[in-house]
This record gives sequence, C-alpha cells and structure tokens, in this order.
Amino acid sequence: MKIKNICCIGAGYVGGPTMSIIAQKNPKINVYVVDMNAKKIAAWNSENLPVYEPGLSNVVKEARGRNLFFSTDVNKHIEQAEMVFISVNTPTKISGEGKGYAADLKYVEACAKQIAEVSKSNKIIVEKSTVPVRTSEKIKQILRSRNSDVDFQILSNPEFLAEGTAMRDLEIPDRVLIGGDNTSEGKKAVDSLVKIYTSWVPVENILTTNLWSSELSKLTANAFLAQRISSINSLSELCEATGADIEEVSKAIGMDSRIGKSFLKTSVGFGGSCFQKDILNLVYIARSEGLDKVADYWEQVLIINQHQRDRFSKKIIDFIIKENLKPKVLLLGWAFKKDTNDSRESAAIYVTNNLLNNNIKIDIYDPKVEEYQIKFDLSNLNPDFDKSLVNYVKKPLKGICEYNTIVITTEWEEFKKFDWEILYKKIKKPAFIFDGRNILDIEKIRKIGFNYIGIGRE
Ligand code: NAD
Ligand code: UGA
Repeated sequence: MKIKNICCIGAGYVGGPTMSIIAQKNPKINVYVVDMNAKKIAAWNSENLPVYEPGLSNVVKEARGRNLFFSTDVNKHIEQAEMVFISVNTPTKISGEGKGYAADLKYVEACAKQIAEVSKSNKIIVEKSTVPVRTSEKIKQILRSRNSDVDFQILSNPEFLAEGTAMRDLEIPDRVLIGGDNTSEGKKAVDSLVKIYTSWVPVENILTTNLWSSELSKLTANAFLAQRISSINSLSELCEATGADIEEVSKAIGMDSRIGKSFLKTSVGFGGSCFQKDILNLVYIARSEGLDKVADYWEQVLIINQHQRDRFSKKIIDFIIKENLKPKVLLLGWAFKKDTNDSRESAAIYVTNNLLNNNIKIDIYDPKVEEYQIKFDLSNLNPDFDKSLVNYVKKPLKGICEYNTIVITTEWEEFKKFDWEILYKKIKKPAFIFDGRNILDIEKIRKIGFNYIGIGRE
C-alpha cells in the first residue's frame, strides 16, 4: 500500500518525537499527530513544546506546517490515513483483574474501537505502545468484529528510544523491530512500514518478526536493562558493607566485553514511566501462565529498586539524627534522568516522600520540571503530604547559605558544574552532600570539606 498520510494517536513522549523524525525523513508523507488532550496539542503547535528533548525543537521547526501537523481532530485524521500508529499510554492497572501488575489496555482498546468506527478505507494499524504479548490479537478482534467493510492489517513496531537521548536513538536506532502476520497481506503491510524506515535506517538494522515475538521482545528488552541496574545497585550495598567501591567494580566488570559497560551505573534507583510497569506486566504474564518462579525472578528487580530508594533515604535520615542536625535540605533534581522534563516514577519523588514523613524541610530544584508537576507527583504518591515542609526554588544557589544538607537525585550536568569550593564557603556547617548518582568527584569534594556520602562507596 502506498502511504501518503500517517496518523499517530497519542502526542506524548513517544508519539511526538517519533513522528517528528518520520516526518522529517519522509517529506512526501503527511504525518498527523493527534491527541484528545487539547492543551498538549496547543503546546506542540507553539514554541513551548510539551516534551523537552535535546534536538527535538529543531526537527519540529523544520517539519511542522510542511508535512507534520498536530491536531485534536482524531476522527478526521484516522479516516484519511493509510497507516495509523497507536502510541497511547499503557499504565499499570489500578483496579480490576491484574490490579497493580497488568497493563491497562483501555486506551489502546479505545483507539481500536475508534479506528473501527470511522474507517472507510483499508488501513495498516501499527502498535507503537508497549503492550503485553498477544495484544495485537485483541486489536485485530476489535477492528474486524466492528468493521468488516475494510481490511485492517496489524503490525507491532515497539519503540526503543530512551528519554534524554530520544532524537539520537531515533536517528540512529540500534534496530527497528517490525512484527507482522505471515500472510501475503501481512507481508505487504510490513514492507510498507519498512519502506518508511529505510528513508534513513540501513535495511540491515530493520528486523522483521512475527507479531508476538515483537511484542514480547519489547518487554524483555526493558526487563533486561532494568535488571542490570538492580544488579549493580544490589552490589552497591555490598560494597558499602565490605569497603569495595562500586564505581571501580562497575568499571572492572564492564570492561569484560561479554558483560559490556552500559547500564552499570549505580544510582538511587531507576525511574521513568516504563521499567516498573513493563516488569510488573511481565510478572503478571508469567504468573498467569503458572510460571511462579519466573515471575518471582523478575519481581526481585523491582524489590531491589525500591530497597535502593529506601536505603538512600534512610541514610540521610540516620545522619540527620546522628549529627543532631537541624536540617534544611536542598534536593537537586526531580526528573527521572537528565535531559528530560519527565518525572514519572522518579526516585526523587520517593526519597522526598520518605524525608517528609520524617518532618524534614526540603527545598526542591530541577532545571526542567515545573513546580506544578512536582506538586502533582508528591500528592499523587501521598495526598496528605505536609505542604508546609516543601519549597520550590528557581535559583538554588541564591539561598545556599540556608542549607546544611544537599541531596542529588538527578545527574544534570548543571550540578556537576557548580563551583563546589565557593558553595562550601557559604553553606551552613557541617555540610553534607548525599550524591544519589555519584556524579561528584569524591576525593575533590571531600578535600573541600564536605561530608560526602555517595552510593556504594565509603
Ligand atoms: P504519554 O502519556 O506521554 O502519551 C500518551 C498520549 O496518548 C497522551 O497525551 C494521551 O492524552 C494520549 N491518548 C490516550 N488515549 C487516547 C485516545 N484514545 N485518543 C487520543 N489520544 C489519546 O505516553 P508515552 O510516554 O508517549 O508512552 C506511550 C507508549 O509508548 C507507552 O505504551 C509506553 O510504554 C511506550 N514507550 C514509552 C517510552 C518513553 O520513553 N516514554 C519509550 C518507549 C515506549
Ligand atoms: C528505557 C529504555 O532504555 C528504552 O530503550 C525504552 O524504550 C524505554 O525505557 C521505554 O520503554 O520507555 P528511559 O526509561 O527513557 O528508557 O531511560 P533509561 O536511560 O533507560 O533510564 C531509565 C532509568 O534508569 C533512569 O532513572 C536512569 O537514571 C536509570 N539508570 C540508567 C541507572 O540508574 N543506571 C544506568 O546505568 C542506566
């Protein structure tokens, strides 16, 4: 099928950047990104994009109005498109069967119903959202049972971009994965999507599989990445107990080419909207299949992650008690990693909540996350959090003399570049730094005079 118009339902962290690149690289295809959230669409059409991602605004500027459009008219753009991407959120279910584990597919299913309702011509439907294995079957069933006048081909094309490096990941992806049916119509649909990607991705980096392998590979990739972080984080505690240094251990094992050095950076715990929900989903699928040992194995990745956030918080609280500090804490970083304005499941939320539960006053600073979002995150975790203990600051260094405790929760470059020597002269004594990312030079910072507590190094 010749693709002239693409519609992508969902203008979020995946839909927006992914479609911007597809539009940039395929100037002859019109790409319409639609969303039911009018505020978000207005932001995509403004100078102030709803997603902060290095390099994104230049790509949007180049393609927007030419062949990239953002709209709330979902029906119209589904109708006119030959290819429709579903890129909506798939959060963990909060009620019903599978509550707390299974992926909530209500948004995906709503899209399938809407597509079935408005389609008058044949379409290729591309599952971009991360979904449980065999979801494509459900989508097929919804589409075909509700509209038998047109032909729908379903593809799975999971996204592997990481926030903060999304534009680079999209420009030079390690691989593009496309799952489709092994029928002649299915193969033609796969070819149509392959053609769009070959505008910029070498064909040998495009992997085609059956639908279910593609769906399961996405969950598995995230589970493997998260597992490495929990592995190194679990060892950080062992390092603290034994006097080994996790940075040295991480370097030493990462130099083994069979292990590799990626995703071995110890931290206060992984965050982001996906690792936790995708592992919960994997655990749910394994348990549903009666594979309890498999489920327990993967669940442990999440148990260690929570333990890491809690033990980091406890360390701060214990020091405050031991040193009899009258603490005023400056917490640096709210985003779940640097170079994004996304704070979903950020470790900072959990650490702050733990400190607030101990009546500790906290000033919070992040270069990109807005105050309303921080408030939302805190009340989402604990609706009764003590608002009088929290303050949101725009210039963290201005009032530096008020603090005696600094907690680093995100690895923003900006924090590395602070002149810590000058700050030390101004800050209240004794001065503590709890570095949840090990971003500062331990020897240098201790020489300045700070009590420096990192992760996995004493
Ligand atoms: P998001 O919450 O940022 O965006 C989803 C958007 O879909 C929202 O703007 C919402 O309003 C819209 N939406 C939901 N239902 C709709 C409907 N029926 N009609 C119109 N709009 C609708 O989510 P995201 O971070 O972009 O993630 C989307 C999917 O991609 C998830 O399944 C996620 O697991 C997966 N994923 C995310 C990332 C990431 O880095 N964020 C990376 C890879 C895969
Ligand atoms: C992750 C995957 O890396 C993407 O491939 C995937 O597409 C995406 O999830 C998804 O499905 O949503 P993302 O969560 O955006 O991407 O960012 P990561 O770079 O994976 O970082 C996740 C969390 O792990 C962050 O909090 C980060 O600080 C932490 N992390 C990462 C570590 O603590 N140590 C590391 O070595 C690497």
